[in-house]
Amino acid sequence: MITYNDVMEPDNPFVYGEIVGAGAFADRDAERARLARDLAAGQKVFLISPRRYGKSSLVRDVLRGLARRKVLTVEVTVASSSSYIGFLESYARALVAAETPASRLRRWAGELLQAVRPELRFDADPLPGKSRFALAFPAVKTARDTARLAAEVFALPGRIAAARRQRMAVALDEFQAITAFDGGSVEHALRAAVQDQRAVGYVFAGSEPSLMERMLGPRRPFYKAGPVMRLEKIEPGLFAKFIDSRFSASGMRPEPGLGEAIVELAANVPYDVQRLAHETWDDVKAGGRKAVGVENLHATLTRLLGEQHTVFEESWQRLTLAQRAVLRALVLEDGRELLSADVRTRHRLPVASSVQSALAALLRQDIVMKEEGRYLVSDSLYREWVARKTY
Ligand SMILES: Nc1ncnc2c1ncn2[C@@H]1O[C@H](COP(=O)(O)OP(=O)(O)OP(=O)(O)O)[C@@H](O)[C@H]1O
Ligand SMILES: [Mg+2]
Repeated sequence: MITYNDVMEPDNPFVYGEIVGAGAFADRDAERARLARDLAAGQKVFLISPRRYGKSSLVRDVLRGLARRKVLTVEVTVASSSSYIGFLESYARALVAAETPASRLRRWAGELLQAVRPELRFDADPLPGKSRFALAFPAVKTARDTARLAAEVFALPGRIAAARRQRMAVALDEFQAITAFDGGSVEHALRAAVQDQRAVGYVFAGSEPSLMERMLGPRRPFYKAGPVMRLEKIEPGLFAKFIDSRFSASGMRPEPGLGEAIVELAANVPYDVQRLAHETWDDVKAGGRKAVGVENLHATLTRLLGEQHTVFEESWQRLTLAQRAVLRALVLEDGRELLSADVRTRHRLPVASSVQSALAALLRQDIVMKEEGRYLVSDSLYREWVARKTY
């Protein structure tokens, strides 16, 4: 239902914390075109970037485009499963359900998975957001059963594409989680299966660059399995213009330089850019204003820092003293030259080897990330909090 209010008052045009749809999607034209082309050609693509750069949004957008071209599309988040068998179940379910009418699900699942006899459950009244169709493999007990099941499930995309005479595109998101399941055997089984599936494109998207890069190393199954896309940040000038134009299109008047200031404060991490824009928009809207400037941005930043204070304080208190000192120095020195004698003296840091292990610990905890030889705090709000609230 469209109410008077919906017509008069545009919604907040900025989205964060979920996959962005067409309207809030900035740039990525070259990446979209390339990924779509590779998937349609049946390539096995690796998509790698640090967290919150926009992998899932890009993948979703490309799959939507492929679906319009009659490609069967399937998307599964590997990290959502708590076990290998759980992953196989959710993957098999997604494959079987791809554009299959509910009336045909049972027969289709039976035909496809004869050899492993799944248990099917149909829920007449599913919870919101839950599927009405679940699939389990209760007979699978030993490691050998699991391996046999995996081979069967990993072969499914090829069989489905052949049976339906359609090309298929499969996205396995948070793919780095696969390494936790079952030593190297999962990688072997999956690689062996996908390489003969000519009609099926795969994108393996992962957000822990070091884990993903290791998986592509010379002694691992996925070595040279397909093209690797390393997703970079969005070009800052373009992103800034995009932000300004979204403010304007929603009836506000951004002061010149606002988009640029947002992108800069967010260290150009897409999630952080959208968060600052979204929250600033809300505050200005609540104030009943149309003009938005850098002052509004700073007022919003102050509010957000206040709201996050407890969370940041807890995170800070979990750090060792050396880690705190290194984190603070990293913020104040813009992430450079942290091992140099000069910086260590200025910030009373311990010996270089201790600085190094503190940095490694901060990286492991995802508090810090590395970009072109420089260390950055992953969350730009946390960076601002450390700069202002710690000593
Ligand atoms: N092309 C884009 N244009 C505008 N904003 C974007 C774009 N891509 C991502 N974002 C912003 O970044 C946020 C994170 O995007 P997304 O979840 O796709 O990233 P991700 O790389 O999959 O992150 P994670 O590693 O945490 O899964 C989105 O909610 C959105 O705010
Ligand atoms: Mg993601």
